[in-house]
Amino acid sequence: MILNTELEYKGNLFPSHIISYEKNLDTLNFTTENGVILQITVQRDSVLRFRFTTSGIFENDFSYAITKYASRGYNHLEVEEEEDKYIIITAKLKCHVNKADLRTAIYDAQTNDLICEDELGFHWEESYEFGGDIVKMSKVAQEGESYYGLGDKPADVNLKGKRFENWVTDSYAYGKYTDPIYKTIPFYTALHHKKAYGIFFDNTFRSYFDFCQERRNISSFWAQGGEMNYYFIYGPEMSEVVANYTDLTGKPHQLPPLWALGYHQCKWSYYPEAKVKEITNKFRELKIPCDAIYLDIDYMEGFRCFTWSKEYFPDPKRMVKELADDGFKTIVIIDPGIKIDKEYSVFKEGLDNDYFCKRADGPYMKGKVWPGECYFPDFTNPEVREWWSNLFQELIEEIGVKGVWNDMNEPAVMDVPGKSFPDDVRHDYEGNPCSHRKAHNIYGMQMARATYQGLKKFAYPKRPFVITRAAYSGTQRYTSSWTGDNVASWEHLSIANIQAQRMCMSGFSFIGSDIGGFAEQPNGELYARWIQLGIFHPFCRTHSSGDHGDQEPWTFGKNITDVVRKFIELRYELLPYLYTAFWRYAEEGIPILKSLVLYDQLDTHTHYRSDEFICGEKILACPILEPNAKGRRMYFPTGEWYNYWTDEIVEGGQELWVDADLDSMPIFIKSGALIPKYPVQQFVGEKEIDELKLDVYFKIGKETSEVYEDAHDGYDYIKGRYSLRNFSLTGKTTELVIQQHKSGKYTTPYDTFKLQLHGLPFKIKKVIIDKVEYSFKDIQLNGNNSFIINKDFTDLHIL
Ligand code: GLC
Repeated sequence: MILNTELEYKGNLFPSHIISYEKNLDTLNFTTENGVILQITVQRDSVLRFRFTTSGIFENDFSYAITKYASRGYNHLEVEEEEDKYIIITAKLKCHVNKADLRTAIYDAQTNDLICEDELGFHWEESYEFGGDIVKMSKVAQEGESYYGLGDKPADVNLKGKRFENWVTDSYAYGKYTDPIYKTIPFYTALHHKKAYGIFFDNTFRSYFDFCQERRNISSFWAQGGEMNYYFIYGPEMSEVVANYTDLTGKPHQLPPLWALGYHQCKWSYYPEAKVKEITNKFRELKIPCDAIYLDIDYMEGFRCFTWSKEYFPDPKRMVKELADDGFKTIVIIDPGIKIDKEYSVFKEGLDNDYFCKRADGPYMKGKVWPGECYFPDFTNPEVREWWSNLFQELIEEIGVKGVWNDMNEPAVMDVPGKSFPDDVRHDYEGNPCSHRKAHNIYGMQMARATYQGLKKFAYPKRPFVITRAAYSGTQRYTSSWTGDNVASWEHLSIANIQAQRMCMSGFSFIGSDIGGFAEQPNGELYARWIQLGIFHPFCRTHSSGDHGDQEPWTFGKNITDVVRKFIELRYELLPYLYTAFWRYAEEGIPILKSLVLYDQLDTHTHYRSDEFICGEKILACPILEPNAKGRRMYFPTGEWYNYWTDEIVEGGQELWVDADLDSMPIFIKSGALIPKYPVQQFVGEKEIDELKLDVYFKIGKETSEVYEDAHDGYDYIKGRYSLRNFSLTGKTTELVIQQHKSGKYTTPYDTFKLQLHGLPFKIKKVIIDKVEYSFKDIQLNGNNSFIINKDFTDLHIL
């Protein structure tokens, strides 16, 4: 019997007394009388890895999640022994290990505050059904402790009081609290007494997390196989916890091309070619910016991956080129199921080379997906991934497709219980053969990885763009993602908001939802409100299922079209801001979207807020989540905030009503910020950017802002050809000083800046740029509001 609860512990076994301890560089092994070994590795001063074996022998140490680029090394490590415990001391932590039972307690090394303490600690059950152990861990929940993260769970931002399961699942039209859905990210951040820590349970078997649901003051996690193998990550800042988790599991291997941050239009399906053209032409005709157009499964011949329907798309290369000439990047879907068809070359190659997954007793894993009966490549075999990556040569190099969308990679199988492979299916798992019980949660990740390898190879010297539905921790290294088959409902708008924040807090920032909802059809109001949210999501795409009607920006009449255009235009203006936020994320693992708790964990009001979020570092946004709304109440975190539309200033630390008719939404800018903006373009690269607009939000005091730029594609930036501008603003009652520090070897196409001043409390008398006073005419001072600087200044004084 497989237990679904941590506490049904009739058969629970526990470690006994420590009988030996040894230390080897950064790794300590504690062995108990009953043969349990706890291995603690000091990855960094604030990151400890805990591994347990109940047999005295560890499995081969292999993880798909942990990147080889993860930082290792600490400033301090010593071990003290006391009568009842060992104490491992690093520069940041003290970890007590009880001699009696291996239970641990972790303290802040500086303050001695208790951060995380085992309750039962490690315990396990032997699984007679499958062999191996059901491995479990329970911890004491500290007073006021709250929990965040865990990937795409459609629950409230704070997970306290809930239990979750991790098993990637095709979940058409899921609802709030449906669990599990598409992704498995077994990482959470906990916060109590103003300090945060994280737990990453790197175990790919079906796993569970309980945040004080089963027992009020206990959090626990367990898995139906594998090792108890988890990383403890100390903050105390939440953002440090997430950054350190992202360091362990990897940042995106490269920046996305800038166009990927533009607006994307998708449908199941746009076909034939004439329909695709009708859609793209309409975007240009109505002047609604758009960078990417998607082809869903109907572009293929009988849903055979890597083929084209001759009837609907007779000349894909020409079409893709024509679309590209009009600024549209073509993105195609590729699913894992390969149709069983001896005339089909991909099938034949897979079969001849023995690349398909097999059942335990020998036959191939046969399952029904869109093309009918299929076999499925074993993406956990590096040779299969290499083969798969080469299948993209024609699509990318020849035809000119710019991105690939991996779907159904949970893997989804139709009309079977469990909607996926049976447990007995075998996988290579990088030479660690195993059953589907272990490989299920990483199957989609490895498919996306293989696809990524293909795009990276054949799109070179351009950057790859991949999107995946299924994911495990670490998938963010290769691909973007969306939240799967949601529904056109107001509730789902709120779910999309939470899921995007949660994914960002789970190390995976390149995320968005099907704008407007995949199933059913939104009305114009819901669609407009969803676009307003979507423009702040790192991945911004409208997608819907064809059987529920049209879902294009112009579907709902002129008023709605105008609102949608206005917000997509805003996204295009904000591209340099979003790109900078992406760069920060890719450099440091700082989430692009920050739930208010991540923004200010010291303010307890933020601990349960779900609607408001910070995008990048300086923009506070809060979607309207109800029909017929003229505005809403929202919470303002500490600081001073400018209403984006009116420049009215709001003091943080309070909840207030904000007006927002359908053509508006609550958007606020942090005072002191410089927000970089491009002119509106119909697609990225349409215009040569010859001037950067800087919206300057006056503040008394200091604030810094940054703008990252590079060629927006290609890899030169890795060789230093980027431009990073750091602006520091100092505001006084009668003076505003902006200093710029520039680094990097890239020369931006512009060296003209249009400064738009917001909230300047004095009348401008003088403008001094790099020690030279300029006449108002020279800088085209417009009222008291804006002026132009025709050079790359370093020192600006406005008096
Ligand atoms: C799945 C995907 C959806 C796609 C459809 C057809 O439902 O989640 O996005 O449009 O399959 O390929």
